[in-house]
Amino acid sequence: MNLYKPEYVHCNGERFKVYLTDEEIQSRVRQIGKKISSDFLDKKPIFIGVLNGAFIFLSDLMRYVDIPCEVDFLKLSSYGDDKVSSGEVTELKQIDAEIRGRHVILVEDIVDTGLSIKFLVEKLKRSEPASLSTVTLLHKTEKTQHDVQLDYVGFRIASLFVLGYGLDYAQEGRNLAQIYILDGDSD
Ligand code: IMP
Repeated sequence: MNLYKPEYVHCNGERFKVYLTDEEIQSRVRQIGKKISSDFLDKKPIFIGVLNGAFIFLSDLMRYVDIPCEVDFLKLSSYGDDKVSSGEVTELKQIDAEIRGRHVILVEDIVDTGLSIKFLVEKLKRSEPASLSTVTLLHKTEKTQHDVQLDYVGFRIASLFVLGYGLDYAQEGRNLAQIYILDGDSD
């Protein structure tokens, strides 16, 4: 398969450069998939992906999981067309699955302020799952203001705007196979 992974890309008039390569991402996602497989042996977990951003991460992650599992999705409002969080969370789509008594793994693309994941953990806990774990591909550690429980983290990153591998800038760039930052930004 020929993945879309240029070294530089223009998105909404701004130039971005590679930050995490396809190989780095796949190697880390594979590790997390293996760890989840051993942690949830005989538990048939249900992955709940947060749309839109987590769809690519979750589809790769699930294929590295080699135990029986299920999947469902919910959707939150995005940043809009901006590069900073609006500070509000709106639920646009709810899960269909019954999660009471199930082992739930909530899958996020990125934790920034932590508002979204905090909101979702509190909401899902009200359905009384047997357990609730969280996984995020990226965590902007210095930006996180809320007290969040993160069980599996792909990469801890600086407070940079990132693009690609499911993450968008005004809805564009999700199809990039690698993760990019603004050309000029650095760790
Ligand atoms: P939080 O609620 O502030 O933690 O933001 C989480 C959500 O904001 C993520 O699920 C993403 O949809 C979006 N987001 C946060 N940082 C970025 C970024 O750097 N690029 C693209 N989307 C982002």
